[in-house]
Amino acid sequence: MCGIVAYVGHREAQQVIIKGLKRLEYRGYDSAGIALLNNGLNVYKKKGKVSDLEEYITDETLKSTIGIGHTRWATHGEPNDVNAHPHYSSSRKLAIIHNGIIENYSSLKQELVNKGHIFLSETDTEVLIHFIEDIWENNNCSLEEAVRLALTKVVGAYAIVIMSNDNPDQLIAARKGSPLVIGIGKDEFFMASDATPIIEYTKDVVYLNDLEIAVIDNGQLLIKTIEGDAPTTPYIQKLELELEAIEKGGFDHFMLKEIFEQPKSIKDCLRGRLDSQGNRLVLGGIREYVNKMINADRIIIVACGTSWHAGLVAEYMIEEFCRIPVEVEYASEFRYRNPIIREGDVVIAISQSGETADTLAAIELAKSKGAIIIGVCNVVGSSIARSSHAGSYTHAGPEIGVASTKAFTAQLTVLSMICLIIAQKRGTITDQAFHQMLVELETVPEKVEKVLKLNDTIRDIAFTFKDVSNFLYLGRGYNFPVALEGALKLKEISYIHAEGYPAAEMKHGPIALIDEEMPVVFIATHDSSYEKVVSNIQEVKARKGRVIAVVTEGDKLIPQMAEFVIEIPAVQDALIPIVSVIPLQLLSYHIAVMRGCNVDQPRNLAKSVTVE
Ligand code: G6P
Repeated sequence: MCGIVAYVGHREAQQVIIKGLKRLEYRGYDSAGIALLNNGLNVYKKKGKVSDLEEYITDETLKSTIGIGHTRWATHGEPNDVNAHPHYSSSRKLAIIHNGIIENYSSLKQELVNKGHIFLSETDTEVLIHFIEDIWENNNCSLEEAVRLALTKVVGAYAIVIMSNDNPDQLIAARKGSPLVIGIGKDEFFMASDATPIIEYTKDVVYLNDLEIAVIDNGQLLIKTIEGDAPTTPYIQKLELELEAIEKGGFDHFMLKEIFEQPKSIKDCLRGRLDSQGNRLVLGGIREYVNKMINADRIIIVACGTSWHAGLVAEYMIEEFCRIPVEVEYASEFRYRNPIIREGDVVIAISQSGETADTLAAIELAKSKGAIIIGVCNVVGSSIARSSHAGSYTHAGPEIGVASTKAFTAQLTVLSMICLIIAQKRGTITDQAFHQMLVELETVPEKVEKVLKLNDTIRDIAFTFKDVSNFLYLGRGYNFPVALEGALKLKEISYIHAEGYPAAEMKHGPIALIDEEMPVVFIATHDSSYEKVVSNIQEVKARKGRVIAVVTEGDKLIPQMAEFVIEIPAVQDALIPIVSVIPLQLLSYHIAVMRGCNVDQPRNLAKSVTVE
């Protein structure tokens, strides 16, 4: 939530920051602001998108080689010009940008109000910068020391950057729980919530760790700890990201680009790991923990949103192939319900961003009780990846559309590999079945490619249903999580109310909704639940529901019952979700575009949810 960018060097800071904020808009886009040093410390901010801010500041003569900028996803106070960041301190000598939440802000605010501070916004962030200044003024210390002292009193999560009117060469940043990357160029520094605003200028980066403070002053970067330990030498890493990966590449939207990238992203995910001819499957990142996994009494999967749906598929897979009991938990529930976690339990945390606050907190809790944490993340170097004992990256490349697509199929690919490795080592899969699964996995990218060719057909179906108010998605077995994911995709980006259900559960409630207006998407591929799903389709037909069915190529029966049929290639049951979700992603995309929705930045959502 919220994106932050800062720059100090020899370029025009305004341009670097605005461009950077546009790249970070996936993190929040309800208001944006920038602070620059041009005849004093000036803050410009505006409700709306970064482009609104850009329009607002075009007339100004903003020449500054230092600046900070922010794109917001509101937590404290509605999205408006005043609550937008940056925020000034009391004297207006300091300005701050912040991603995260200061949980004890109201007690700090009360103390400051008692001392005569006046606050303009409703934000926790404004309280923090007043608090820092208060310490700075009353302790006769450096600004850096004041920031450090203030942060020792702060409860919550933050990535912050502060600039000062008095020092045109200085930026002070700190992080706890929210990401911050520092780019090191020639006589210039960049700071941002992720590396995308930085890559076109430099590939040398430092990922700030939790409870660290970074001070850039006079062309030098120093990293210290909030506890006040001696400075550490920054660990400089080379970014592997390329600029093309974060551009639209001719597609109308990032979401469409990412849907179409799936044959490649799945291949990238399999590359170097799967060799069906040699009958080998290797995941280097979990190698040292495989023994613990095969001996686990149970596996707990924690995740949120789409990643949670991937977890549900993994539950079915791991129980089927490994015969280990699996529980799939919403991270937000798990962390607060006093769960039973035993020493040696294995927790798989699934997260595209690797920054989701609830998932991070769930794994910290499990870790404190002796569980082994296996992270399945997309973003390399992310907080969840770093707090896991071991893990496998999904290697889907940057996902920018807020609605997750290629990250989901890459998660399923990694989870199926983890599952097969455990099953093989436990001896719960025959050699022949193992080999067959590897062969099947290898064919998945081309099957996905084939489904993408149905784009025009799916666009036509979307046209028929673009104006409806409700949708129902039904599936059984491995396709039940796909039904949930299809419904989530549609509601996220088109704002049509959609529900996903296990098909057989329909008769216990949702069937009451079915009439001649109600579109029902059945994911009815040729798997072990096929006959049962056919009966469920009959039940919907009997009530005049409008059936759209995703079926296996060559199906003769369902086309006679359904109004629309989308045929996908046959694939082994456990791998079906990777293929059957593709038409649902396209259906949601086209409906949303036809309804005039902003598919890449749906209202109220954010891609990286770093607040609980
Ligand atoms: C947000 C995103 C979803 C995502 C969920 C979990 O809600 O909009 O697309 O599935 O967070 O995110 P994670 O990064 O942990 O997978």
